[in-house]
Formats: sequence, structure tokens, C-alpha cells
Amino acid sequence: MVAYLRLLPFLGLLLADGPGVAAQGIQGVSKGQKWTKESQSFFVPGAYIVEFEDENGASFQLSSISLDPLSTAARIASVPSVKQAWPIHLLKRPDNSTLTAPSGDSSHSDEVANIIRRAKSNDTYSPHVAVQIDKLHNAGITGKGIKIGIIDTGVDFNHPALGGCFGKGCVVTYGKDLVGDNYDGTNTPVPGPEPYANCTGHGTHVTGIIGARSNPVGIIGAAPGAEIGMYRVFGCTGDVGADVAMAGASQAFEDGSDVLSLSLGGASGWTEDPFSVLLQRIVDAGVPVAVANGNSGSAGLFTAGTPANGKGVTAVSSVENSMTPYYGTVGYVNTDKTSTTGQLPFVYANGENPLPNITLPLFAITPNVTTDGTFASCNPLNSNAPADLSGYIVLVQYTLGPCDTWTVAEFLAKNNNAKYILYWLDAPGHAYAPGSDAVGFGMTTQLQGQIWIDQLDSGKDLYLTFFDSASAPQGSSFLPNPTNPNAIDTFTSWGPTWQADVNPSISTVGGSILSTYPVWAGGYAVDSGTSMATPLMASIYALLMEARGTKDPKTLLNALSSTALQLPFYDGTTLYNELAPVAQQGGGLAQAYDAAHATTLLSVSSISFNDTDNFVKKTSFAIKNTGKKSVTYTIGHNPTLTMYTFGNGSTGHYSAPFPNPIADGAAASLAFSQKKITVPAGGSAAITVVATPPHGLNATEVPVYSGFITLNATSGENLAIPYLGVVGSLAKLPVLDTNFNYMIRETVFVLDPVPANYTYIVPVPTSTVWNETLVPLPDYPAILLQIDAGSPLFRVDLVAVGDTKAKVNTTNVLGADIVGTLPGFPIPFAPKGEWIVAYTGMTQEGIATPAGTYQFLVRAAKVYGDVKNPNDFESMLTQPFNMAYNWTAAATST
Ligand SMILES: *[C@@H]1O[C@H](CO)[C@@H](O)[C@H](O)[C@H]1NC(C)=O
Ligand SMILES: *[C@@H]1O[C@H](CO)[C@@H](O)[C@H](O)[C@H]1NC(C)=O
Ligand SMILES: *[C@@H]1O[C@H](CO)[C@@H](O)[C@H](O)[C@H]1NC(C)=O
Ligand SMILES: *[C@@H]1O[C@H](CO)[C@@H](O)[C@H](O)[C@H]1NC(C)=O
Ligand SMILES: *[C@@H]1O[C@H](CO)[C@@H](O)[C@H](O)[C@H]1NC(C)=O
Ligand SMILES: *[C@@H]1O[C@H](CO)[C@@H](O)[C@H](O)[C@H]1NC(C)=O
Ligand SMILES: *[C@@H]1O[C@H](CO)[C@@H](O)[C@H](O)[C@H]1NC(C)=O
Ligand SMILES: *[C@@H]1O[C@H](CO)[C@@H](O)[C@H](O)[C@H]1NC(C)=O
Ligand SMILES: *[C@@H]1O[C@H](CO)[C@@H](O)[C@H](O)[C@H]1NC(C)=O
Repeated sequence: MVAYLRLLPFLGLLLADGPGVAAQGIQGVSKGQKWTKESQSFFVPGAYIVEFEDENGASFQLSSISLDPLSTAARIASVPSVKQAWPIHLLKRPDNSTLTAPSGDSSHSDEVANIIRRAKSNDTYSPHVAVQIDKLHNAGITGKGIKIGIIDTGVDFNHPALGGCFGKGCVVTYGKDLVGDNYDGTNTPVPGPEPYANCTGHGTHVTGIIGARSNPVGIIGAAPGAEIGMYRVFGCTGDVGADVAMAGASQAFEDGSDVLSLSLGGASGWTEDPFSVLLQRIVDAGVPVAVANGNSGSAGLFTAGTPANGKGVTAVSSVENSMTPYYGTVGYVNTDKTSTTGQLPFVYANGENPLPNITLPLFAITPNVTTDGTFASCNPLNSNAPADLSGYIVLVQYTLGPCDTWTVAEFLAKNNNAKYILYWLDAPGHAYAPGSDAVGFGMTTQLQGQIWIDQLDSGKDLYLTFFDSASAPQGSSFLPNPTNPNAIDTFTSWGPTWQADVNPSISTVGGSILSTYPVWAGGYAVDSGTSMATPLMASIYALLMEARGTKDPKTLLNALSSTALQLPFYDGTTLYNELAPVAQQGGGLAQAYDAAHATTLLSVSSISFNDTDNFVKKTSFAIKNTGKKSVTYTIGHNPTLTMYTFGNGSTGHYSAPFPNPIADGAAASLAFSQKKITVPAGGSAAITVVATPPHGLNATEVPVYSGFITLNATSGENLAIPYLGVVGSLAKLPVLDTNFNYMIRETVFVLDPVPANYTYIVPVPTSTVWNETLVPLPDYPAILLQIDAGSPLFRVDLVAVGDTKAKVNTTNVLGADIVGTLPGFPIPFAPKGEWIVAYTGMTQEGIATPAGTYQFLVRAAKVYGDVKNPNDFESMLTQPFNMAYNWTAAATST
């Protein structure tokens, strides 16, 4: 098992420079492929990961790409000593690929050190309070001596809050760069000794969540006593081949990491994905692995992330911060015009004409002073407003529409002589630098604007102080989140997997997190995602290892899951009385202190009752009392909302958009072998659970039910086991959406089907990738694909029609004679979703197909289907279409 991990890091790097490597590199997937869900992954043509019988692993790319990569995988697997072979997925980078330097000066942050809240020995940092890290810090637990290995985009370890160095005695003490700046997922990785990166911010942000040291913006590292390792697997742009990311995880394991933190992956729902399997083995080898479950919440149920869904891996879901941080230019507000005592900092963004050194009273444009009852108007102000606003900072709501921001500013300048305008955003979000105008210009946040308007309304006077952009400090502010504090983020991806495994595992705080960023890009930034929740989870593991004196992944996950706080459902607007489904929150919000001190240990972290076909009527769990006294437990049941996967007027059978339809009042009933049980000190007892799924539900719409088995102990401990089940048959789920999977003209933005035998005229193909520089853009044939359930194998192949059959060579793949495969396909372990893929006339295998009549054959294996058995696939043929090549267009490239 461990041997597999040992070889992979080295062989993984052979991907693009070993013998037998395709000289031209990997052809990209056709431009125009639209991934409607965030972080989808597709696979790298001709590249494989193989596992040998002795459980060593290797990855390589074949020089001649076979017509059928999956059957190639089968052929590789049939070589003696090769146990399994998988094609390699490409994983999307988790962050924005380009950074820009902030407009303001960031060198003055020390000046605000004494007025902005900062790290204290008494940790009151809101993400820490939410998960009880504050209590562990206050007890002196910091993750001392624990090594946390991060697999990410690299880190700016020169950052002062990250120690300013790499190696022994620094914050980032180990790790390496597996790829180099220029790696984009398809070219040759160039490893380097230090995992430094300043061209991208994600890894620096993640690192600060675990290890930030004293800093002027008030953030606190969650495991400041731990050593951090960074394994850089992303270059400055592009994606990462799953084999390279796997090599990073393997190397982090080999280098002795006690915990791994991976904020990467894509929506999938397949535990069999090789990356998921690798992480499962690392967990089996004794190292807890925390992985972001993904930010595909809007796609509804069954979007569990890969590799987060590996068995035993901790798939992390995200909860919103209770204090919303902002980072930007610092100004000051006071109720007293002359004194600086009582002055409070606030954060704003300067416009192109920044605000100068100035202190002026604040005047707010509100419905009281506009004639149309708005917060920003292009009509003259009423008599409540001073005729001359030049002596004020004018607070105006940022608006779009006919009377937009710039028009309002011009209007106020012209009519009321306004000189200094501060916008406040009309929605939650980060203030950004507005464009230039004849006046000093800035923008602050919605929360800040509302707070000031309320204060002015209550009769207070407010004076704002600004410094010119050369001297204004950068800094942070934290404002109470009035909307969704500690609620589950709607972006967080939902489980379960396609085989009804419980997913996600647990939640931590990942929504609106201020952390470190490359110094030149401002030094600090706010970001949101399960990417941010994951390093907090990894930190909790480090703290628990120190507090409990064990590193066993199962013991720690069970303790965390059983002590987590169950959260109510939040649909983006309303907080419900009912609990959020386990498929969204896992065990709930981690409670690190309770997990560190739990004396009752349960034998499981969760229970799946599977689907109707594979229903687990009866199961059991064990209670172990490690305390010094006998404890009596009262066993109970707390159901969550039941949600339908499909339905609610959604197109075809495709998932309903978030929030999915709720099956009101539908809950499973659970019967226990005992309702009360006394377990002596040091003793154990087993409880049997018999489940009855909710009745009267429409199984076609695949309801997912869940809840918590609760244990209230006389010792004062309250514990719970999350469970879930699926009503309906996952094996029989329709996969191909019969309303889609047809030919369109994507380049002219028409998503309706083209008539049968439509003729696409395109340049002679030289690549599988569109040539975007052609003018006009050629009318490439494109296919609109949609699968409503995940598929262990999704393939799209070109077949010849009529006379064209005589002009092409074909290969029989799964019972069909195909000319070649659509670039980017087949996709093993495909997520549900939709794709638009254009065909240039060159197949995945590099064959330029002759002019003629064709169809695409779309095939997807059923959830439990055998990918070698044609009968286990659903299939559809698109309309026949003609392809003709226009020789002159190829020459007009600009
Ligand atoms: C930390 O601060 C909280 C809130 O102000 C207070 O209740 C608690 O006693 C403090 N703890 C320590 C260890 O100072
Ligand atoms: C603005 O104020 C700062 C700090 O007091 C000072 O250093 C700077 O010179 C001032 N700028 C101008 C243009 O007066
Ligand atoms: C605006 O109008 C409201 C309600 O009429 C009033 O309570 C408030 O004091 C007014 N604010 C100002 C600044 O005039
Ligand atoms: C559900 O049952 C199927 C078929 O036996 C099995 O492959 C799958 O692993 C089961 N799911 C869980 C979560 O146990
Ligand atoms: C970014 O990093 C590169 C080395 O990778 C270094 O040469 C460059 O100076 C850095 N840029 C800044 C602004 O720190
Ligand atoms: C990433 O890009 C999005 C969209 O452009 C933007 O809203 C967001 O603030 C960016 N995040 C960071 C951390 O720069
Ligand atoms: C169950 O759901 C399917 C799919 O939405 C629908 O066609 C069918 O009418 C529903 N059945 C009942 C009894 O409501
Ligand atoms: C029993 O435990 C559950 C799960 O932790 C908890 O939600 C509930 O409030 C507890 N009940 C009592 C009466 O303490
Ligand atoms: C499309 O072309 C094929 C082959 O030339 C022919 O068999 C078929 O009838 C045509 N379909 C339509 C709708 O014209």
C-alpha cells in the first residue's frame, strides 16, 4: 500500500519527459467547451496512471494515441503486473489566475497596527470562535510539532506574516515546487526546490489560514504551532494533471506530513476516481486528509467533489463567517469634528481620482433628500439637502441602470457643487475602485454604508478623515454579518456520491475569510470557498493530534463528527427551523474543543442506508466510554429536511436548481435496540438501528433523506451520528437527457438544434482546438450535451452516414463502428452536467476527417454500469450533419 505512494511522486513527473512521450504535448480540449459547473475536470488524452500488482504506481503518456483510450487502459491493465489503469483527469485551478497590484500604497500598514484588532493571546477571531479553536488556543494548544502538508498553487513565503523565509525555523518549513511557473496542465512540469509563487494567490491565502503570524490586519493562524509544507502543483496559469496533483499528495505523505490539506478538485461524485483512491490509501496509512468538497452548490445534490469523496477522506463543506472582513484603504470616522479620540477605522477603495487629505462631515443621499425616494438620483435633491455639498463627503448608493453611478456623480457636482463622493455598494461584496471623475472618489461596502445611514438617521454627526493615496494606510475592518452568520454557504457542494456514500463529512468556516496574499498584490485579501474551510479543518486535525495524543484518522474524524454542531437550513434568503440535509452539512460545524475532550468514542462517523435497491434495513454502531465513570446514554433521532434531486419544473430530468424542492415533513423513522443504555467506565456497548425510509415520496425525483442519531449522556456530552439514504434506484437513473444531445451552431450563439443535414463549412483542420483568430469565426459543428446523472464512462464518437462510410476507416468500439472520438472524450467518472463542444474536423486521435455526412454517437454508462458492456450504456445519435472544408478561410488567420 505504502509502496504505491512511494514511487508515484517520481514517476508522476515522467508524464511529459519520459520515453514514449507525445512530442507535440497534449492537444487541448476544443475551445468553446463550456463548463457550467465550477471546477469540472476532464481527462488528459493519451495519459494514464497505472497501478502495478505490487501496488506501485506510475503515470505516463503514450506517443501514439489510441482510438479508444479506455480500451487502451484495459490493454495496459492486461499487461502482467499491471493491476489497474486509469486515464488522467485535468483539474481546474481553484483561483483567479492573474493578480493585479492594488492602486493604493500598502507599505503603511504598520501605522494602523495599534487601532485595528489584531492577534491577541485571547483568541476572539470569529472563524476560530465558530469552531472552538479559540478555546484550544486559550488552553495553549497550537498544533505544536504537527506537520501539515498543503497541495496548492505555491506560497509567497517572503510575506512578513508567513515568517519571510522558507525552511527550518520558518512558517513554511518544507515542501517543493513540482511544476514551475510555466506549467499549465498540458506541458512539461519543471520542478524546483522551493514552493515559492507570487503570480497566484490561492496557496498563500490557504497557508495564512493555518499559519499567519502577528500582522496588522487582525488575522490569526489556526495552527500556529504546526510546521507547514507546501507542494506546488499549479503554475501561474492553467490547470493541473491529476497525476501531478497526486504526486504532490504522495510526496507530502512521504515527507512525513501528519495531515494533508487539499483545496482543489472538481464536482464528480465518484469515489473510484484514482485521485480519490490515492487519498483513501493515505488515510488508510494513518494520515487524515482534508479536501475541499467544491463550490458547486447551485448544481444541487450529487455534486460531491473529487478527490474529496475518497472513502475515509474528510470532505469539507463551508459555513459563512459571522464577522465580514474587508481589506482596503483605511479612512477614519468620528462623531467629533476636532478630536481624534474615538476615531474608528473603516475600509474603502479609492477611485482613479482618489480622495485627498481631508476631514469633512458625512452627508448621505437617502430617500429623505431625493424626490424619487431613492438612495441615488439624477433628479434635483429636495429642500432637505444643502444646496452646496462642497463641504461634505457625499455618501451615495452605487447604482447601475439609466441613472448610473457616473451620471449621479456628475449631476451632484453640477447641481450641488459636490466635490468628494463616497459610494457604498448596493449588495454584499467588496468595494472596488470606481472610474475617474471630476471629483475625489471612493467606494465602501454595503454594510458600512448602512451603518452610517442608520447613525445619521438617529441624529448623529459623522466626520470622515481620508489620507491621499500616497500616505493612506491599507488595513482591514470586520463588521458583524447581519445576513447569514455561521450559516452554511449556499455555494458549498452537496453529496451524496452516486453510490450513496455520505458526503460531505463536516463543515468549517470558509465564507468571507481574510488571509495572507502575495506581498506585491497587497499582502492580504478576502476570499470565500470550501478552499478556505479546508485549511481550517486541517488545522483542527493538528490541534486535536496535540490535544488527544493520537493521529489516527478514524478516531479523530469520528470524534469531530459526533461532536459537531448541527446547523439549520439556509436557502440564501431564509433560515429554516429544520436542520440542513446531511448531504449539505455533513456532521455539521466542527467543534474542535468538544472533539478534543470527548470521552465517548463512537465506532462510526456516519451511516448510509443506501438507495432502495441496496437498502440497509439494519445496521449498528458501538459506544465506547473512555471516561472514569459509568455513563447513561439516551438515544434519539433528529431528522433533517428531505430534498428531491430532480423535479420542480426543471428542464427535462436535470437537477432542480438550488435550493432543491423540499419534501415537507418527510423523514425516515429509526428504531433502536435500546433507548437508554448505561456503559461502565472503559466499557463498550452496541446499538442496533432499524430504519424505515420516508413514505409517499416520488422515487422518480430521487429524494435524499437524512438526520442525526443523537446520544445525550449523563456526563453532559451530547453526541450525534449523521445518516442519509436515497429513495429510488441509482442503478436505473436515466443518464442521457433526451431533451439535449443534439447539434447546434455554437459559434453563432444558437442553442436550438440545427435542421437535419445542415452543412457546416469550416477551414481544413490542423488541430482539435478552434483557431480563435479566424475572421469571421468559422461555423464549427458543435454538440450540446447533457447528462442528468453521473456516468462511470461518458463517450461521444463520430460515425459516418451513407456514402461517407466508404471514405473513412472505422474501429468497432463497444459495438459501434466509429471514425474517431470527440476531443476531450471519453470522460471516465463523469459528473452530471452540460457541455458544449465544437468539432474542428479533427478527432481526439488526430485524424482529420474527410468532408461528408456524419452523426455523433453519444453514450453514457449507467451509474452501476459495466463500462465494457455496451448493454449497460444509454445511447443517442445526433442529427446527421454535413461537413465541408473551405480552403481559403484557413489562410485568413490574423
Ligand atoms: C477571553 O475573552 C473572553 C471574552 O472577552 C472572556 O470571557 C474570557 O474570559 C477571556 N479568556 C481569557 C483566557 O482571558
Ligand atoms: C497628507 O497627510 C500625510 C499624513 O499626515 C502627509 O504625510 C502628506 O504629506 C499629506 N499630503 C499632502 C499632499 O499634503
Ligand atoms: C429621514 O426620514 C426618516 C423618516 O421620515 C426620519 O426618521 C429620519 O430622521 C430622517 N433622516 C434625516 C437625516 O433627515
Ligand atoms: C450501496 O450499494 C451498492 C451495491 O451493493 C454498493 O456498491 C455501494 O457501495 C453501497 N453504498 C454504500 C454507501 O455503502
Ligand atoms: C515574484 O517572484 C519572482 C520569482 O519567482 C521574482 O523574481 C519577482 O521579483 C517577484 N515579484 C515581486 C513583485 O515580488
Ligand atoms: C476572483 O475573480 C472574481 C470574478 O472576477 C472576483 O469577483 C473575485 O473577487 C476574485 N477573487 C480574488 C480573491 O481576487
Ligand atoms: C413523479 O415525478 C415524475 C418526474 O418528475 C413525474 O413525471 C410523475 O408525474 C410524478 N409522479 C407522481 C405520482 O407525482
Ligand atoms: C441531545 O444531543 C443532541 C445532539 O448533540 C443535541 O442536538 C440535543 O440538543 C441534545 N438534547 C439535550 C436535551 O441536551
Ligand atoms: C439526411 O441525409 C441522409 C443521408 O444523405 C438521408 O438519408 C436523410 O434522409 C436526410 N435527412 C433529411 C431530414 O433530409
